[in-house]
Amino acid sequence: MKTLNVGIIGAGSISNFHMEGYKVLPNVNVIAVCDINEERAKAYAKKHDIPHVFTDYNEMLKLEELEAVSVTTWNNGHAPISIAALNAGKHVLCEKPLAMNAQEAQQMVDAAKANDKILMVGFVRRFEEKANLLREAVESGDLGKVYYAKTGYVRKWGNPGGWFADKKRSGGGPVIDLGVHVIDLVRYITGKPKAVSVSASTFHDLGMKPNIKGLGKYFSEDHDENNPYNDVEDAATALIKFDNGMTLFFETSWVLHVKQPHNYVNLFGDKAGAQMEPELEFYEERNDYFTETKPIIQAGSDHMDNIFVREIKHFVECVLEGIPCRNPGEDGVEIMKILDAIYESAETGKEVIIK
Ligand SMILES: NC(=O)c1ccc[n+]([C@@H]2O[C@H](COP(=O)([O-])OP(=O)(O)OC[C@H]3O[C@@H](n4cnc5c(N)ncnc54)[C@H](O)[C@@H]3O)[C@@H](O)[C@H]2O)c1
Repeated sequence: MKTLNVGIIGAGSISNFHMEGYKVLPNVNVIAVCDINEERAKAYAKKHDIPHVFTDYNEMLKLEELEAVSVTTWNNGHAPISIAALNAGKHVLCEKPLAMNAQEAQQMVDAAKANDKILMVGFVRRFEEKANLLREAVESGDLGKVYYAKTGYVRKWGNPGGWFADKKRSGGGPVIDLGVHVIDLVRYITGKPKAVSVSASTFHDLGMKPNIKGLGKYFSEDHDENNPYNDVEDAATALIKFDNGMTLFFETSWVLHVKQPHNYVNLFGDKAGAQMEPELEFYEERNDYFTETKPIIQAGSDHMDNIFVREIKHFVECVLEGIPCRNPGEDGVEIMKILDAIYESAETGKEVIIK
């Protein structure tokens, strides 16, 4: 059995999902962990029985027996760390967003090519059963021509603070944190069309709202209650047009006066339509009646734990067996171009043409 030695760079919340994914694979050894927070790195190594601990990723990358890494740091670390890892001859699974912008993302792809190593981007929602079922339906023509799509990832009170709310480290707010997932899903499901233009607005009207009582929320590990720094958008909306003629309406928020947090991915084709959230449903016509159908999918199949296990397994198979990567770095670049255009359009008040 071929085995793989893996390292984790960034021992925060999401790294635990990567770790659990590696642990279920009998042919993977997690041999190193690195975090700039030494205490966190040491505690992580102890908890998961990891022999090598580092606070500087460049030192970790000198380990010859290390073959692949998960990059699970703040967004501003994704490009420099992944490029260093690729140049050191390691395969990389990098969390979303691939980088702070498209230029950095392209440099990562170039480094992967130059070193003939895998650069996979952590678009974990591509591993949902319902996303793949819907993708197959689109691919086989069940929806006809998909001319319109709508997607949203909307929170009511969900700015996590810490690095997430600091543009220098995150690159932005809910657009780059949440929007990245759902814009990618629509693109993935509809056959990866290229975006050609974006018209967007971002909103900075509510802020962290530290005064709110009565609701709980997720706070970043580095959130400082006495210094709730925030210089990113609360919410955004965009109209994105693609080279296959499809128009996508998108919205996202961390903070918004909305009744409930909610997510949606809706596709509209000339033969049928579909919605993916909360359950996959198809809307079509039969015998001159509109119909609704709902595929039966095992409850919990697309739970966060399961989709991470599938993602990690796929990464390991790409490295060890050379199977084609479902989430190549190039897809991360395409999404960064859209996110860059959203921010540029919001700033200039003009439509941005993507070349
Ligand atoms: N796929 C998903 O659904 C999903 C969900 C949450 C977060 N994420 C992504 O995962 C990444 C991490 O998010 P998180 O919620 O785990 O954040 P976190 O703050 O919990 O953890 C990040 C960790 O990275 C460490 N770090 C920062 N810079 C570093 C560097 N240069 N070298 C080593 N360690 C460094 C921090 O000290 C921290 O421990 C982000 O890019 C985020 O967008 C993805």
